[in-house]
Formats: sequence, structure tokens, C-alpha cells
Amino acid sequence: MKEIFFATSNKNKYLEAKAILENFNIKVKWLKGKYPEIQAESLEEIAAFTAKWVAEKTKKKVFVEDAGLFIQTLNGFPGPYSSYVYQTIGNTGILKLLEGETKREAFFMSVIAYCKPSSKPITFTGKVHGTIAYEVRGDKGWGFDPIFIPKEGKGKTYAEMGPENKNKVSHRRKALEKFGTWFSKQCNNKD
Ligand code: IMP
Repeated sequence: MKEIFFATSNKNKYLEAKAILENFNIKVKWLKGKYPEIQAESLEEIAAFTAKWVAEKTKKKVFVEDAGLFIQTLNGFPGPYSSYVYQTIGNTGILKLLEGETKREAFFMSVIAYCKPSSKPITFTGKVHGTIAYEVRGDKGWGFDPIFIPKEGKGKTYAEMGPENKNKVSHRRKALEKFGTWFSKQCNNKD
């Protein structure tokens, strides 16, 4: 079984990644901590910077993940600012911004950035289209899970679907599948 370190402070992300990458025979080890994040327009840029930083600092092969919720009628807001927006106005604040709005299309995007020491980071992306609910729904999720209804979710929010079903269709799953497929092919665990 191959091993890889996932640098994140978010236990939910770690658990999701661990469950998904197990299918690729990849064991995810949690490099728990807060790591530097740059403010940039693109999730790829943000994730790649952190992955490189952690790989050089720890001298380990690592991946990091950066995600964002992009709401169409808000011109992609909060996008790369999702973390700050979640901490400040949260789900109820987003719902307030969309009050009276019937165009509620949004997508969730996940970017995995992998890096080994003295190398360039490589990124993998996953996107899921859906809509923003009219109210907070479900108690089996975290972050924006209670307000995001993925297209493949049969009308349920991620938080109503629960982690197992969310993991079958999520933005993170799509990015991790691309990463897992690529990483499994690297021979002798050298990459
Ligand atoms: P980051 O990737 O940790 O910067 O995530 C940005 C923001 O989006 C954070 O506030 C997270 O709580 C939220 N977020 C990221 N991924 C998910 C998810 O899968 N479900 C719900 N919220 C998420």
C-alpha cells in the first residue's frame, strides 16, 4: 500500500480523503496543522503554493486541498474567499445574499496539489454543479454542506446525504480520483 501525507487542519477533509483514496490502495496519513495560504484568484495557485511550502518544510511527499463554492448569480462569489466568508457570514449570510433570488446555480470546486521535495507541485481538480438551497438543511455535514444541493444528489443537500453518499459524488471525490489514479501509477512509490 502506498502512503501519502495530507496536510490540513480540517478533520472532515482528512476523513473524506482517507475513505476515497483507500479505494486506490493509498493510505492517507494526516499531517495535522495550519499551513500558510496565499490570497489569490485561483484555487490552483493557492493549493500549489501551500503544497510546495509543506513539502520543502517537512521533506515529505504531501498533498493539500483547497476548495471553494462559486455562486453564479454572485459572479462566482465566494470562490477563493470561501473560507473567510464561511467564518464571517456563514451559511445564513449566503442565504441572505440570495434572498428573493430564484437563479441559485452554483458549483463546488476542489483542487488537490501534490508536491515532493525539490519538485514542482502538480494539481488535480474536481467540480460539481448544483444549486443553493432556500434554507439550511441536514445535520450530517460541515461547512457549506447544508446549503449545497449537488445535481446528482436527488434534491438533497450534501448535509442531508451524509458523508458516505456525499463521497460518491462530491467535488473532492472527483479531484481525489484523478489524483489517486495518477499517484497509483507512479512506480515504486518514488513519486
Ligand atoms: P478551504 O478549502 O478549507 O479553504 O475551504 C473553503 C471553505 O469552504 C471553508 O469554509 C470550508 O468550510 C468550505 N468547504 C470546503 N469544502 C467543503 C465541503 O466539501 N463541504 C462544505 N464546505 C466546504
